[in-house]
Amino acid sequence: MRFRSLTATFALLFLLQGCGPAAPPPSSAPARVDAPQPAGVVEALVPAPAPARADDGMVVSAHVLASRIGDDILRKGGNAVDAAIATGFALAVVYPTAGNIGGGGFMVVRFPDGRATTIEFREKAPMAAHPRMWLDSAGEYDRQRHHFSHMAVGVPGTVAGFALAHERYGSLPWADLVEPAVRLATYGFIMTPGLAASLQGILPAFARYPASVQAYSRGGVPYQVGDTVRFTDLGRTLARIRDHGREGFYAGETARLLVAEMERGGGLITLEDLRRYRANEREPIRGSYRGYGVIGMPPPSSGGIALVEMLNILEGFDLASMGHNTAPYVHHLAEAMRRAYRDRAAFVADPDFEDVPVARLTDKSYAAELRREIRPAEATPSSPSDIAVPAESDQTTHYSIVDGDGLAVSTTYTLEYGYGSRIVVPGAGFLLNNEMGDFNAAPGLTTTGGLIGTEPNLAEPEKRMLSSMTPTILERPDGSLFAVLGTPGGRTIINSVLQVTLNLIEFDMGVLEAVSAPRFHHQWLPDEIRAEEGAFDDARIADLERRGHRLDLRDGRWGTVHAIRMAPDGTRLGAPDPRNTDAAAVGH
Ligand code: DON
Repeated sequence: MRFRSLTATFALLFLLQGCGPAAPPPSSAPARVDAPQPAGVVEALVPAPAPARADDGMVVSAHVLASRIGDDILRKGGNAVDAAIATGFALAVVYPTAGNIGGGGFMVVRFPDGRATTIEFREKAPMAAHPRMWLDSAGEYDRQRHHFSHMAVGVPGTVAGFALAHERYGSLPWADLVEPAVRLATYGFIMTPGLAASLQGILPAFARYPASVQAYSRGGVPYQVGDTVRFTDLGRTLARIRDHGREGFYAGETARLLVAEMERGGGLITLEDLRRYRANEREPIRGSYRGYGVIGMPPPSSGGIALVEMLNILEGFDLASMGHNTAPYVHHLAEAMRRAYRDRAAFVADPDFEDVPVARLTDKSYAAELRREIRPAEATPSSPSDIAVPAESDQTTHYSIVDGDGLAVSTTYTLEYGYGSRIVVPGAGFLLNNEMGDFNAAPGLTTTGGLIGTEPNLAEPEKRMLSSMTPTILERPDGSLFAVLGTPGGRTIINSVLQVTLNLIEFDMGVLEAVSAPRFHHQWLPDEIRAEEGAFDDARIADLERRGHRLDLRDGRWGTVHAIRMAPDGTRLGAPDPRNTDAAAVGH
């Protein structure tokens, strides 16, 4: 509650400033500055435990200022795609943990007439990448190189993705969508509790990179809650993107600075890699659960396929009568999860490089075969010859938007780890991803310690690494829009989206209750159920153990599902996940 009211206070401070400068602009500021906006109607700084309500447009994101900027765009007559672009650029400033221009992600769009599409802007491997690039001279796997080096950086996709979304489906001028982020970075914003704590935690990891320390602290001293912070290099980069579109990032000064940092630190990305990067529009994955429609992200994300596969398996069980998070419920979900994650590891990768059997994996009769293997009171052990998958951190971000016409956008994007590679491009002020860590480590290198070495997701020139991101849109059985959701959380993402989907459909929970409920996770190997702290009482734990499940209950919390549920009368009900204290739903 305390953080909620603080969040509201910071939002209010921003409103009182009319989105204007917190102090006189630095002399290097771009000349072009919009007039301050009228405060307008902000109904939804989420006084938990109620969801935010809006009759027209609604934005739910990880930071109140980004939600506010998205809502401003809707009130100016922009559509949900415009708002998604503006919110995404704003998060690159106020939520540097995962908001980005140096990373990549996925956007699912559903139009008011029921058509849907997706924009894929996943990072890709540089042309010099190869499957053994993370082995040292002695042929040993070098985890540091794989996850925390200039060689861990993939060619960023976010700016190209937003530009493609705008070109195909935007309605306001591009510059209007980037400008609010330019202003936030250039003139500053007030440090929130969530960001201050997060930056304080990451500061030691930034120490190797002077530009990172310079950008995200006061000369090595952490920012304090209430400080006004400015990111002037980032503001100049965003201004180039505002003025030159994708070329403001993939060519010219920004590209030159990025490549100079690659050369300095032994990275592989060249000007040619940047020039060749393209985002893609791809057909969504479509599925159904008890008549509700599911619209999800296709490869190179595994999210849509695995979500639909699990829902297909679970449709044949009476989950509602088992009860939410009871031992039988957890058992049946865990059995579905283990099977879908096995298929994910075996079959799913960049579709431009591998033949992914999408139709088979999302087919209801295939799910029926898998369902028949599931025993009601006994876990199926994951085969010892199977492969283990490593744990991931919880630093990606998702936002959900519905505009006044019912156009819905579900976007998840990331730098991979929190603050990605931790490398800020000197002079350009933005963080680079470490997404190459989502490729498998090396051919055949499969260990019980958590590495996988299967073929489909090995690094190759210009290949996209496999993702778990699962931006999703749900439809009611009558074909109308029902909900928009997604989350960070590495491999837990797909299971979090699954559980919130079931909370909404099977248990008819309100949106805030649905995103707040404790979650659990099984990913095939390691063969165990992980659960959030306090998810199960002793009796449930004993029951699950009797069924043969191993439990790992050490985890705190994971995932932040920022969601919108449509009420039957069309009211947009928005809920930021209370696991993220800076998040907010803003609507009108
Ligand atoms: O694409 C993926 O699946 C991961 N790179 C996402 C990383 C992530 O969610 C980390 N923390 N939330």
